[in-house]
Amino acid sequence: MQNFTFLNPVKIMFGKGVVAKLGPEAAKAGKKALFVYGGGSIKKNGVYDAITAALAKEGVAVVEHSGVKPNPVLSHVRGGIKKARESNCDLIVAVGGGSVIDEAKAIAAGAKYGGDVWDFFCGKAKIGEALPLFTALTLPATGSEMNSGCVVTNEETAQKFSAQGVPLFPRVSALDPETTLTLPRAQVANGAVDAIAHIIEGYFTTTDADAAVTDELVHALARSVIASTERILKDPSDYSARASMMWSATLALNGLATCGYGGMTFINHAIEHSLSALYDIAHGAGLAIVMPAWFKHHLETAGPARLQKFGAAVFGTKTAEETIKAFEDFFRKAGAPVRLSEAGIPAADIPRIAENAMGLIRLWGMKHEQPEIEKILEKAK
Ligand code: NZQ
Ligand code: ZN
Repeated sequence: MQNFTFLNPVKIMFGKGVVAKLGPEAAKAGKKALFVYGGGSIKKNGVYDAITAALAKEGVAVVEHSGVKPNPVLSHVRGGIKKARESNCDLIVAVGGGSVIDEAKAIAAGAKYGGDVWDFFCGKAKIGEALPLFTALTLPATGSEMNSGCVVTNEETAQKFSAQGVPLFPRVSALDPETTLTLPRAQVANGAVDAIAHIIEGYFTTTDADAAVTDELVHALARSVIASTERILKDPSDYSARASMMWSATLALNGLATCGYGGMTFINHAIEHSLSALYDIAHGAGLAIVMPAWFKHHLETAGPARLQKFGAAVFGTKTAEETIKAFEDFFRKAGAPVRLSEAGIPAADIPRIAENAMGLIRLWGMKHEQPEIEKILEKAK
């Protein structure tokens, strides 16, 4: 088990009706909020009304910044920064999925920075401060509600990069499982795949696999995500399954599930981000394509030990090959594509995808070259 530092200052309010509690929390940070949301799902399911009423009750004025798109783009982030500055917003309230929260984080940092916000994403500047951020999550998937990262696509350069920094941790996040009842089936699948992806990256790429507590946490989270998803697909109104899924996805990327692993990388994410950057496909769908291919590559290069251990604990499988198949079966059953062709991406594009992925691989300091990435993608045809 390797040395580690764990820091997570996010206050989580979990359960039915907690969105209204964000009002008093936000009021502690200021009087005017930039209210960031997406394409309107929160207007259909009542969360918009709940949050605006809660803020109004506490005397917090709002300036709306709506229209955040899935896979949020830099131009819209820049628009939000301009709005936050011009309106003198002293806090940000983000309501929606990972895209909304990520864009809000980028705005929070950009509003306090003299240069261009993209500097944070390409490693040119470190995030020194940010506007205080409050979130209400409506889609369990990314863990953004309880971590310090954000992902934005520069649509001019087709780069989907991330920025990180302690000031990006939300102050408070409200997680009401009832707000997820309106999720379309495809987003349930995307969220489940993403949560699985977050716990397998460290587990399978660690150079020190002797961290029993973290292994067991990963196994438990994987079992919980899989069981909750199966219940949700059977009965979308199953509150307890929604609640278990929501908390599992948060725990999957709040730092706990990698403590003690050494030398780990986020290779599946680096490859997926190029699929999203080039084809604008959902992050979870891209991961469902990349992961089975990467597992086959992992088996060839690192051997069967970790796949066997994970499979025995999570799927009840015996061999590494059976474990890979069990992952793929779960993604398929949830409704995610598991091959490039199933997402309409031609195999002829593999060199272009790999070339794009190399941008993030270099930025994240990983030791992979383009031919290896092409080899992995060949297994995803
Ligand atoms: O835009 P609206 O109308 O709100 O609709 C959204 C969107 O169309 C909809 N939705 C959200 N909650 C809903 C709902 N529809 C009905 N009922 C609800 N309760 O779902 C669609 C997808 O939303 P999005 O926020 O894009 O999904 P997700 O949460 O999966 O976020 C994906 C983004 O997060 C990044 C991804 O790369 C991608 O850009 N990630 C962020 C991470 C982080 N900050 O730590 C880590 C991840 O690995 C990931 O990279
Ligand atoms: Zn992810």
